[in-house]
Amino acid sequence: AEQKKVPGIYDVLKVAFDFYRAQLKTAPAAIEYFKRRGVEGKTAAKFGLGYAPGGDDWQPLKAVYPDYDWNVTLAEAGLVIDKEESKRRYDRFRERVMFPIMNQRSQIIGFGGRVMGQGEPKYLNSPETPVFSKGRELYGLPQARTAIRDRNRALVAEGYMDVVMLHQHGIEYAVASLGTACTPEHIRKLLKLADEVVFGFDGDKAGIKAAWRALENSLPEVKDGKELKFLFLPAEHDPDSYVQEFGRAAFESLIDEAALPLSQYLLKELSAQVDLTMEEGRARLVHIARPHLDQLIQAPILKLMLGKRLAEMCQLSSAEFASLTVVP
Ligand code: GTP
Ligand code: MN
Ligand code: MN
Ligand code: MN
Ligand code: MN
Repeated sequence: AEQKKVPGIYDVLKVAFDFYRAQLKTAPAAIEYFKRRGVEGKTAAKFGLGYAPGGDDWQPLKAVYPDYDWNVTLAEAGLVIDKEESKRRYDRFRERVMFPIMNQRSQIIGFGGRVMGQGEPKYLNSPETPVFSKGRELYGLPQARTAIRDRNRALVAEGYMDVVMLHQHGIEYAVASLGTACTPEHIRKLLKLADEVVFGFDGDKAGIKAAWRALENSLPEVKDGKELKFLFLPAEHDPDSYVQEFGRAAFESLIDEAALPLSQYLLKELSAQVDLTMEEGRARLVHIARPHLDQLIQAPILKLMLGKRLAEMCQLSSAEFASLTVVP
């Protein structure tokens, strides 16, 4: 007898993906939402954008899953939530525009869903599942992969819409971390594809925080011969709003003119914390900088050069700087 194939997590996510995509075509509010944000039809198609309706009883996926109530894989895939108290199951994503997340083989592994109006949370993401790990995956990577190689550059933005609109404006080497800081694993992955990685942060408080975490996660991953850069968008802007207002050429000029190389960003942040006119301030700079330099395990040349710069700033010779023992 022929054995029936049991659908796995990937199959279940693919069915949901097709469902959300099809739903977008018949949801005027969602179409209007994307239109208002400037998303063109071919961009929506490239990223497989969709819409999760509210459905009856918060169970829109019941339309494609007759066994909805007892399908174990739906829960494993993070598509439904089982409520202990009421013993009821309902869809995780309802009345949201949907951004499917794909792995390097272009398989669907999760989703991000955005409310169309006000509401919390603004974005809802798939939970960690056997096929989806936020710290490992980058939004837009399958769509950006070729351009990252060709251009020998990757841009890491913060958000889904940043990636979508950068691509629409011809900046196809853009990806985003998924609402977490860029992890060492993200950085490793991108440095395998390109020699230059630019982090593009929102010009808000969250962006500044995310940048410092990205820097700390970058230090052990930087290699001599690679360049990491930190771009802070002007206040009130993110890559999406900036590229829509000023266009591709202006965005790329901004990278060229305003992105800080890792070394400069590090020195700027550290020296802002001390008073270099005082011995105590210069001693403190050595004290706080040293642990960061020690993280540069794969970039001995950069480490040496940064040491030289720090020595100059602290009015020490390189030999003196190198001989200092930092007491933790
Ligand atoms: P738009 O308002 O659609 O332009 O989104 P944005 O990407 O500009 O939002 P923001 O700068 O506030 O956040 C950047 C990224 O952080 C988003 O793309 C999401 O991945 C994530 N994020 C934002 N808000 C939330 C939230 O409420 N919950 C979670 N889990 N992630 C969020
Ligand atoms: Mn932001
Ligand atoms: Mn933003
Ligand atoms: Mn935005
Ligand atoms: Mn435009």
